[in-house]
Amino acid sequence: MEKEKIIIFDTTLRDGEQSPGASLNVMEKLEIAKELEQLKVDVIEAGFPVSSPTQFEAVKRIAGEVNVTIAGLARAKEIDIKAAYDAIANASKQRIHTFSSTSDYHIIGKFGHDRYGKTLQEKRKTVLQMSYDMVQYAKTFVDDVEFSAEDAGRTDLVYLAEVIEAAIEAGATTVNIPDTTGYTMPSEYGKKIAELKRRVKNIDQAIISVHCHNDLGLAVANSIAGVENGARQVECTINGIGERAGNASLEEVVMALNVRKDLFDYYTEIEAKKIYNVSRMVSSFTGVIIQPNKAIVGENAFAHESGIHQDGMLKYRETYEIMTPESVGVENTKIVLGRHSGRHGLKSRLEKLGYHLNEDELKKAYDLFTKLADKKKEVFDDDLRVLMGDEVYKTQEYYELDCFQVNCGNSAIPTATVKIKTKEKEFADSATGDGPIDALFNAIDRALGINPKVESYQLRSVTSGREALGEVLLRIRYQEHSFTGRGVSTDIIESSAKAYLQSINQLELYKAQEESLKELDSVSRAM
Ligand code: KIV
Ligand code: ZN
Repeated sequence: MEKEKIIIFDTTLRDGEQSPGASLNVMEKLEIAKELEQLKVDVIEAGFPVSSPTQFEAVKRIAGEVNVTIAGLARAKEIDIKAAYDAIANASKQRIHTFSSTSDYHIIGKFGHDRYGKTLQEKRKTVLQMSYDMVQYAKTFVDDVEFSAEDAGRTDLVYLAEVIEAAIEAGATTVNIPDTTGYTMPSEYGKKIAELKRRVKNIDQAIISVHCHNDLGLAVANSIAGVENGARQVECTINGIGERAGNASLEEVVMALNVRKDLFDYYTEIEAKKIYNVSRMVSSFTGVIIQPNKAIVGENAFAHESGIHQDGMLKYRETYEIMTPESVGVENTKIVLGRHSGRHGLKSRLEKLGYHLNEDELKKAYDLFTKLADKKKEVFDDDLRVLMGDEVYKTQEYYELDCFQVNCGNSAIPTATVKIKTKEKEFADSATGDGPIDALFNAIDRALGINPKVESYQLRSVTSGREALGEVLLRIRYQEHSFTGRGVSTDIIESSAKAYLQSINQLELYKAQEESLKELDSVSRAM
């Protein structure tokens, strides 16, 4: 029997970026999108264009430079759909992905106002009509329209079938059945897909898609159950990042289908050997660390610790290995660069790692590399990845660290002085604290006249050795929202200052976006 293709819809740049703590600038998104193209994903959901000018710009850049189907997300609102189209208009293959909430939980929560109907039945009717109308509206821009029934996992099956049928009638070419809250069990989710296939009379006119969240650790299992019951598109993210506990992980879905090809009559077009590089790039750009025991891409995924296992592996690899590290691009030998490595050596290593640099970026990367190689004799791939994310693609931020000085010792009161600048102004102040980092943060607070709560602070070394880069990841809280920051340096006090300022910059960005969304909402209500 001929194997059927499973479409891989990557949403790392949209749902993945909604992962707590992850935030990507336009250049970082573009680099990831280029890697996803090399990985041969079929669709890249590049962002949610209406939500902010940065999102819009990122989707637009990707649409202009990356040659796979580019999807833009849109609520079932004209203003969103128009923005999504404007952002993807330059793509060679365009998709608008619009969604409505269909579960009673969501309908009650989001359509509570009487203008959507007085009873639940009336509200359901409104949602159905809105879904139909907005798919039709999206069709006026593009042929390829995807409709998602948000929280389909908890939506009443009969109603879900009606909404899906209406969306297909309005022209949807893909219908997505998200398990938004990661609530369903594989057998239950698989049955839901099978039932939709049975009940929705025009289902053959669209591709069924699965989009599973990982709240109970079942996102991949649910996605595979969906495929076994008729879905032909899987929505997933690199490293499984995404809202809350994340989405189905692309590498796990793809490798499950590859490794168990004896069991499945499906295939994907993914270049599995590219998986490791993309995974590391996404981790270093987002600052979302990969747990060591993460399947396929974790540090320990191919490590054999016990004597019995090592012995078994030496005698016959297959004893404990169901796939080789090489099959997902994990290299056996570690390439190390150093102070004497030239520009050419750096360029070709970065290209191997998936970074596409223009002349200016290469110059910046080389300057940073030589400074790092002066401090650190050996520069590893992970150092380069961090350098790319933290420095080379760094955009001008609102507050920048100009300089700092910290005095401390076991019999001294820790004291810090900082100077911070924006394009227009400079801020400077000093403060004491419980330790050098506390003193530093207090000095930044005093200089900027703010006082956010630091919710978490983590320090890790990027590679091994005394000169290793120290990476700080921290989270601050403002009202009910958290903002993260990341800083890297061979000096951990500098890493801390950079991370703290980055989280403050995220907060400033959020405040600006809130303002623009408020304006948009008032415009869309008036329409
Ligand atoms: O989880 C979800 O329901 C989503 C939709 C917008 C597809 O991300
Ligand atoms: Zn989602």
